[in-house]
Amino acid sequence: MAGETFLNAAGVGKHGNDTIFSWWAKFQEAKAAGLPAVNGTIGALLENDGNLAINKAVDAAIRDAPEQEIAAYAPLAGLPAFLDLSKTLAFGDAREELEELGFNFTATASPGGSGALYLSANNFLDKGQSVLLRDRHWGPYKGFIQNNSLEFETWPLLPPNGNESHPYFARREFESKLEELCSKQDKIMVWLNDPAHNPTGLSMSPKGRSTCLESFVESALNNPGVGHTLLIDSAYSLYADETHAWADTILESLENGMMWPENFLVTVAVSLSKSHTIYGLRTGSLVSMHPEKEVTDRLETVLCVTARQTWSATPRVSQYCVSEMHSSEEGGNAWGEERDRLKKLLDDRRNVLISECEKLGVPLNPTMDGFFAWIEAEDPVAVAEKCAENGVFLVPLTGGVRIGLCALPFDSVPEVAKALSKAMS
Ligand SMILES: Cc1ncc(COP(=O)(O)O)c(C=O)c1O
Repeated sequence: MAGETFLNAAGVGKHGNDTIFSWWAKFQEAKAAGLPAVNGTIGALLENDGNLAINKAVDAAIRDAPEQEIAAYAPLAGLPAFLDLSKTLAFGDAREELEELGFNFTATASPGGSGALYLSANNFLDKGQSVLLRDRHWGPYKGFIQNNSLEFETWPLLPPNGNESHPYFARREFESKLEELCSKQDKIMVWLNDPAHNPTGLSMSPKGRSTCLESFVESALNNPGVGHTLLIDSAYSLYADETHAWADTILESLENGMMWPENFLVTVAVSLSKSHTIYGLRTGSLVSMHPEKEVTDRLETVLCVTARQTWSATPRVSQYCVSEMHSSEEGGNAWGEERDRLKKLLDDRRNVLISECEKLGVPLNPTMDGFFAWIEAEDPVAVAEKCAENGVFLVPLTGGVRIGLCALPFDSVPEVAKALSKAMS
């Protein structure tokens, strides 16, 4: 194989995995040939006219940046004002109450949520140990995991036999995986992209979250020698109905008397790519919460050193401008109004897709928030190909087909339901 003289074994094992890009290219080809073509492929939020949607308040704030803030390095851990903002972006209104209850927070800036996931993979498990994921997850997780010499295990996204009280959380399967991992690892870590899951748009519901938290804490209490890290990937959560769903669940559970075992860490991978429409400015953070200050102080050092040794510092201009913007009520409100406008694009498209699919009997997966919807399929490529024959371009992934609501023009959504109906029949 070309390059093998130079590439190590890990490099040789890396293959172009651009399913999303290749299906986007198919859409482009059809469009260029003058054929009817609806784009449900890409993972960025587009306006109904197909242009990239921009949060105008963020754009204005960035354009206002002083030249020093554009040119200079940021401190290695991140700008203090940005780190403070990150804690609020991660925990919302619950942050203050959690602080009053004695919890400590630490944040480390990272190039997007991807950098935050990398920080956790690099530090919270030992080589060869497994991260626990749901079976439907964002594809790049695998790369972050493998590049840190980790493995992964999965549990089902939805309870295989349904569940009336928490239909969007497979408790039994989760608990049995936790038990299995605790029997062979001295540290375990779960990555949970909720609310507004990529690739399905699922949000677990308050009951699903409190049940999940209960299972995890119980596992930590039963296995005091095993470190338990719950990582919430909040990449899309600021577009969800419950923006800080996990912080609210944690606070409520504590108020209801939940014990916090010392071997339990909550950490949030924050991404400003979507929430602030600065995908290319590579800005995010990893925000961790624990009752002991010694623990959060130690994490602060370790994560900052990892950042230094991996990408050096995170871009300064975005950290500066976004923190400045959120520091005034006026700036925060301007961002919020734009966020609401963008969220409405998603909500309108999702509502139509759900109702059209219902009318046609298309078995769409439960989808509530965020950029995507999903349909399970035994042969996802065949389904995507049939949709493409009808001018609708979607992305076949493991276990199903991803419908990029974020890219679909509102008026084209009924065509997607029709194409799916034909493809699934
Ligand atoms: C589930 C999920 N997590 C994290 C990210 C991180 O994105 P970024 O590194 O651009 O912040 C993404 C981006 O697509 C995502 O879909």
